[in-house]
Amino acid sequence: MDKDKKMMVFYLFLAALSSPVVTEEWKASVIKELEALVTSCVVVPCSFSHPGGPLPTSRLRGIWHLKTGRNQLVYYEDQTRILENFRGRTKLLGHLGLSNCTLEITKVRDHDNGPFCFRIELAKSTDPSTSNKFSFVEDCVDLRMLPEPPKPTLSHSETATEGRPFTITCSVTHTCPSHAPRLKWSRADPDAVHEVHKKSRFGFWEAESILTITAEEKDDHTDITCTAEFNGDSKSSALMTLYVKRSANYNHIIIATVVAIGTAVIFAGFCIFMVKRYKKRMSRPSRR
Ligand SMILES: *[C@@H]1O[C@H](CO)[C@@H](O)[C@H](O)[C@H]1NC(C)=O
Repeated sequence: MDKDKKMMVFYLFLAALSSPVVTEEWKASVIKELEALVTSCVVVPCSFSHPGGPLPTSRLRGIWHLKTGRNQLVYYEDQTRILENFRGRTKLLGHLGLSNCTLEITKVRDHDNGPFCFRIELAKSTDPSTSNKFSFVEDCVDLRMLPEPPKPTLSHSETATEGRPFTITCSVTHTCPSHAPRLKWSRADPDAVHEVHKKSRFGFWEAESILTITAEEKDDHTDITCTAEFNGDSKSSALMTLYVKRSANYNHIIIATVVAIGTAVIFAGFCIFMVKRYKKRMSRPSRR
C-alpha cells in the first residue's frame, strides 16, 4: 500500500517533469475514428503543432500513409509515390503553414478503412546550420465504412392547418463537408426552402433543409419525400404523410346565428303587426 503510494508520487513527478518537454515536441492530432460512405467522400480532420512557431508550407511535407508501412503512401506531394489505388483520390484540404493537415478522400472504396496515419517532415533547409533537420509526428485514424447512406430524418412542429404556413425540416449527417449531400423535396411548389450546414460532433456534419408550404385542403393525406443525394450518387430518402387540419372557420356559425336572429326579428315584427291589427279591429266601432 505504502509502496504503491510512493510509486504514484514518483509517476506524478515524472509526468510533471516530462510535460513541458512533450509540448515542445511535434504533435499531430487526428480524429481517432470516423465513418465514411462508400462511393462518396470523407474529410478527416487533422491538425499539428510544432516548436518554434509557424513554419512556411514550402518547408513542410505532409504525408499520409497506411499504418502497415511508412512507404505505403496514401497522400504525398509526389503523386507517383502514392499507392496506385489511392492515386488521384486524396487531397490535403488544410494548409500545412496553418498547422492544418485535414485530408480528403474521394470515391471512397470499401477497403479504404485504414488505419491512415499522418506524418510531417520538415524539409531540408538550404541553410547549412539547419540542414538535415528532420522531425515527424504520427497519429492515425480508423475509418468505419458505410455501405449504405444514412437516412434523412424529418421533423415538423405542430399539425398543419389549412391556409397557414407549415414547415418541415429534413436533416442528414455526413462526413464530407467539402462535397456535402444535397437535400431535395418532392414538393414542386414550396413557398420557401432554406438550407443550413452545421457541425455536429467532431468530424461529423449535418445538412439541413427547411421547407415551408401553405397547407391546403387538397394536401391532406398526401406524402412529402425528402431525398438526400450524396456526392458519388448514393441516395436515401424519408417520407412523411401530411395531415391538414381545417382552419377554425366560424362563418357557418355566424351565418346560422344571423339567419336565426333575422327570422326571430321578422317573426316578432310579424306578431306585433298582427296583434296591433287585431287590437285596431277590436277597437273599431262596429259599422253594423
Ligand atoms: C482545416 O482545414 C479544413 C479544410 O479547409 C477546414 O475545414 C478546417 O476548419 C480547418 N481546421 C482548422 C482547425 O482551422
